[in-house]
Amino acid sequence: MSNYHIKHLEEYYQVYRKSVRNPEVFWEEIAEEHFMWRKKWDNVLSWDFTKPEVKWFEGGQLNITENCIDRHLHIRGDKTAIIFEPNNPEEEAQHISYHDLHEKVCRFANVLKEQGIQKGDRVCIYLPMIPELAISVLACARIGAIHSVVFAGFSSTALSTRINDATCKMVITSDGSYRGAKTIDLKGIVDEALKDCTCVESVLVAKRINTEIHMEKGRDHWLQPLLDEAYTDCVPEIMNAEDPLFILYTSGSTGKPKGMVHSTAGYMVYTAYTFKNVFQYLENDVYWCTADIGWITGHSYIVYGPLCNGATTVMFEGVPSYPDYGRFWEIVEKHKVNQFYTAPTAIRALAKEGVEHLEKYDLSSIKVLGTVGEPINEEAWHWYDDNVGKRKAPIVDTWWQTETGGMMITPIPFATPTKPTYATLPFIGIQPALMDENGHEIKGNQVDGRLCIKFPWPSMARTIWGNHQRYKDTYFSAYENKYFTGDGALRDEVGYYRITGRVDDVIIVSGHNLGTAPIEDAINEHPAVAESAIVGFPHDIKGNALYGYVTLKESGEGRNHDNLRKEINQIITEQIGPIAKLDKVQFTNGLPKTRSGKIMRRILRKIAGKDISNLGDTSTLLNPEVVQDIIDNAL
Ligand code: PRX
Repeated sequence: MSNYHIKHLEEYYQVYRKSVRNPEVFWEEIAEEHFMWRKKWDNVLSWDFTKPEVKWFEGGQLNITENCIDRHLHIRGDKTAIIFEPNNPEEEAQHISYHDLHEKVCRFANVLKEQGIQKGDRVCIYLPMIPELAISVLACARIGAIHSVVFAGFSSTALSTRINDATCKMVITSDGSYRGAKTIDLKGIVDEALKDCTCVESVLVAKRINTEIHMEKGRDHWLQPLLDEAYTDCVPEIMNAEDPLFILYTSGSTGKPKGMVHSTAGYMVYTAYTFKNVFQYLENDVYWCTADIGWITGHSYIVYGPLCNGATTVMFEGVPSYPDYGRFWEIVEKHKVNQFYTAPTAIRALAKEGVEHLEKYDLSSIKVLGTVGEPINEEAWHWYDDNVGKRKAPIVDTWWQTETGGMMITPIPFATPTKPTYATLPFIGIQPALMDENGHEIKGNQVDGRLCIKFPWPSMARTIWGNHQRYKDTYFSAYENKYFTGDGALRDEVGYYRITGRVDDVIIVSGHNLGTAPIEDAINEHPAVAESAIVGFPHDIKGNALYGYVTLKESGEGRNHDNLRKEINQIITEQIGPIAKLDKVQFTNGLPKTRSGKIMRRILRKIAGKDISNLGDTSTLLNPEVVQDIIDNAL
């Protein structure tokens, strides 16, 4: 039996028991046998959730890119590491071998060094899904710079907030990006963002759409000429196990986005190990995750996890609907994809368009299907199973978070029997707990509660950049000695978990985490707005959509509501990005509040979801009269 590659359910239980009975021994064995270290660790794990402080493989030294690239060169140097599939199907796909990747990453790393980037410096990467994105991520890791990838759908304000929070010295971007039939002026967004950032010394610009753009003298440099001149080899920086590898921002329910900091060794070990098992990846397989590298899914399961296993990983630049809704399936057929990993939102959107888009393509290469990012409803699960997997490919419904770095609750295909809408069993080494409202763990099965994790795992985020107190308050203060996920879950009669959704003020729209407070702050900047509250309501495709309740100032009364709605969404687009736009905006005379002035979102959520049968006792509100008015005018 190999602890690294689990194939049967009995093996899962056996390895799981070992991993929780003696985690240090278990992870030491995995780390030792399957990775390349420059120096072995002194201590496998030390932890204290009260501080909180967690260290894995302390004293160990390594470079993650040696694990992702160099160690494969002798055995699979000519194997394709990355398949780049462009937005436009007419443009040829690129196959980047491990040898090519080595050279490209080294050249890029040398360019970073020539531009003055050193170990520990932060580099913001704001790129579309083109090879330069994966390469620049790895180039940073090669020299020990901390990458902070910002999804290229975020606005200039969102970008500058993130650049400033991490005091990035450099931004890597492109002249623009393709998104279906549209082009986006990325460099223009960067220029706008940098008006508010004094920390950025240089900007590297990749050419993608060949448009005329402004290049700021002394600051902006075209990437290609620098790469052409750079050396093709770059000695990797030797990193300590706990050195930060990257920062990735995620929305909180309040305040500014949280820069989750992931460290090097634990992240590497856990993402590689989960990738191998959860996708059952075999040497000649082609694996495709449709996420963007701007999100954690792309970091862990397009770049680091697959490359660490010497896999072939597909990067797709485009969208599922361009040039038509058959695009995903065309790519599956073209590259003979064996493992396909996407989000429930994409599945629902494709299901709506009908099976005729699928029927044109040969999907027989598919062995494993995966989903991530939000709960998958039963209908979408069956559509995926019947039409894409033809009931032969198990679906791995993987629950995890930006903060967890890797998959936490998930089936192991061909081992764990799947159950629609259930993420099923904890992965090896993961110890979940369901908690009640009084802070006690709920034991036994057929129960539900708030989902916590009781014991550290190697890829957990170590802190929030620049704000350890917030890290402690957000994740380690709700329940003593436990990591609190912010999600609710239930455990069925056999111990399978089903994630029921967020229990805080984060709303997941199309698989994207959105905090209500930043959106409300944006709306409140409109001169006619007095105050606002955002809630989620069920949406057929997006899972949830946003419903805004907005109270106007006197000066705003009498203004055209449709125009106001447009202006509000315009502000949101500018401040956060189009993903945070509101589907519905209701203008109200007031918002229901408790006597201490807190907005009663529970009531607003029910009204938005058209479920007003049980609003609870509203008589104790500060302003009970507004409730009926809101119900009467609900959209
Ligand atoms: O609510 C859970 C939901 O997505 C949240 C994490 O979002 P993010 O940090 O953006 O990471 C998404 C990709 C890992 C979780 O707190 N979520 C994620 N996966 C699932 C899920 N909800 C239900 N089922 C899932 N499989």
